[in-house]
Amino acid sequence: MKKVITYGTFDTLHHGHINILRRAKKLGDYLIVGLSTNKFNKIKHKKSVYSYKQRKAILEGIKYVDLVIPENSWNQKINDIKTHKIDIFVMGGDWKGKFDFLKKYCKVVILPRTKGISTTSIKNKLKKKNRKILSDISL
Ligand code: CTP
Repeated sequence: MKKVITYGTFDTLHHGHINILRRAKKLGDYLIVGLSTNKFNKIKHKKSVYSYKQRKAILEGIKYVDLVIPENSWNQKINDIKTHKIDIFVMGGDWKGKFDFLKKYCKVVILPRTKGISTTSIKNKLKKKNRKILSDISL
């Protein structure tokens, strides 16, 4: 059985997330997602809308995902790869070149990001809409 692992925050789940999970699963038979914990998000200067528990429940409901494990730090990947006997490490294009050091332990595949969507852009659009609603109300 070929095992694949990928990592991320996966907040406000969107089609870019689904695309990478689908393509990651297609590379093997079993997909593990290392999901950034709330504490680790702080280290990454990210604040998620949904809690770790909620994001985990959402990911577990996706047919491409077989197991969700916590991502607590930048340097757990080698250990995860060994513990879970991972064959392929997958990340989106924004991480190109950053994980070449893992090639010693498994295959590293960087998939192109889905264009035009991100958690940040969703949050920004909602903020803009909110500001417009508030300014309309004050008229
Ligand atoms: N991803 C992708 N295409 C997108 C957005 C994300 O392929 N349009 C991938 C990322 O490259 C990463 C995984 O999905 O491998 C999880 O990314 P995450 O950082 O959680 O999502 P983003 O939407 O990029 O979040 P943010 O805007 O907060 O960085």
